[in-house]
Amino acid sequence: AKTFKIAVLPGDGIGPEVMAEATRVLDVIGQKYNVTFEGTFANVGGAGIDNEGKALPQTTIDICKDSDAILFGSVGGPKWESLPPDEQPERGALLPLRKIFGLYANLRPAIIFPSLTGASSLKEEVIGGGFNVLVIRELTGGIYFSQPKGIEGEGRNRIGIDTMKYSVPEIERITHVAFQAARKRGKKVCSIDKANVLSSSVLWREVVIDIAKQYPDVELSHMYVDNAAMQLVKWPKQFDVILCENMFGDILSDEAAMLTGSLGMLPSASLAEGSFGMYEPSGGSAPDIAGQGIANPIAQILSAAMMLKFSCGMVEAADAIDTAVETVLDQGYRTRDIFQNKSGEKLVNTKEMGDAIIAALA
Ligand code: NAD
Ligand code: IPM
Ligand code: MN
Repeated sequence: AKTFKIAVLPGDGIGPEVMAEATRVLDVIGQKYNVTFEGTFANVGGAGIDNEGKALPQTTIDICKDSDAILFGSVGGPKWESLPPDEQPERGALLPLRKIFGLYANLRPAIIFPSLTGASSLKEEVIGGGFNVLVIRELTGGIYFSQPKGIEGEGRNRIGIDTMKYSVPEIERITHVAFQAARKRGKKVCSIDKANVLSSSVLWREVVIDIAKQYPDVELSHMYVDNAAMQLVKWPKQFDVILCENMFGDILSDEAAMLTGSLGMLPSASLAEGSFGMYEPSGGSAPDIAGQGIANPIAQILSAAMMLKFSCGMVEAADAIDTAVETVLDQGYRTRDIFQNKSGEKLVNTKEMGDAIIAALA
């Protein structure tokens, strides 16, 4: 049987709780499709700090380097927020992982499942019939990574500095990802920028227009980010692929997630050139519900499905997971974040949702 080496990084908060369900689903997939997932657990984030003294221990980096893919939970929480910024879980582990492995393309598919239209924050008239938006977020550049960065000076003279830079090659490669994805679906790309204010956006728009010439079958439009935030809640069905720089994509993808009912539903794939990738829910460690076993594991499980598709070439297995999720939602299974207290709904905890998805896979 074929073997895939997976670095499993549960992290903090609800990370380990939802990861347990994703790895159970992978075990079932392994049996069903006669492949072996050799999962190696590693500490990351607060768990890295607490157990090995560092948010991103070298052992964790080595395990990731020795793997076909990384399955990532989430990191961060109040316990580590008073550490120096660069040592905290987010800036000390998650961002470096993205940079080290060249994970420049973050795919965040916000799809509304038919039986969840009631859980969306939008009115039935607006989301009825569902929608399917793919946010493509540049993940290793922009204001998250550009230099100079930091706090300089003393006392009231301190200045906080962040810089937003994009090079032509950085814009080109993420634009290709967006157009290639659009080709396989609704054939529309909406590029988001703030070209009325930001120089990095002026260049972004120029380069996107240039690359678009190679994809005459795909329709390109442009939107300022503030308008895009508004248009997403006004009429999400107008969008197919949304192409964003790093921070705009961070913000708009949380917004898109809520339209589908809950942040706990939104998976993501962070891809490098080639088949390596890191698969992570778009949401965080959810300190407000951590430790209670009630988090929604669907984002983590759908992230594992994206891993099967993009890093393992197991498209059929990935589709089977997507279908199983749709089935359990149709059957009325709801974690608290998507529970509407309507007839036919069954309120379940994290593990029971995992059980239901596994049962639907069988
Ligand atoms: P969050 O995404 O953790 O939580 C926002 C809200 O969404 C909370 O009410 C939470 O309960 C809910 N939520 C998120 N995932 C859920 C799930 N699976 N099931 C049910 N409800 C869910 O964002 P936050 O509160 O702004 O941040 C908390 C911590 O997580 C911070 O330390 C932040 O930096 C970190 N964070 C990490 C990642 C990551 O590791 N990829 C992503 C986002 C935030
Ligand atoms: C995400 C998160 C991260 C980001 C944080 C935790 C660094 O919000 O993956 O969306 O901003 O990229
Ligand atoms: Mn985010």
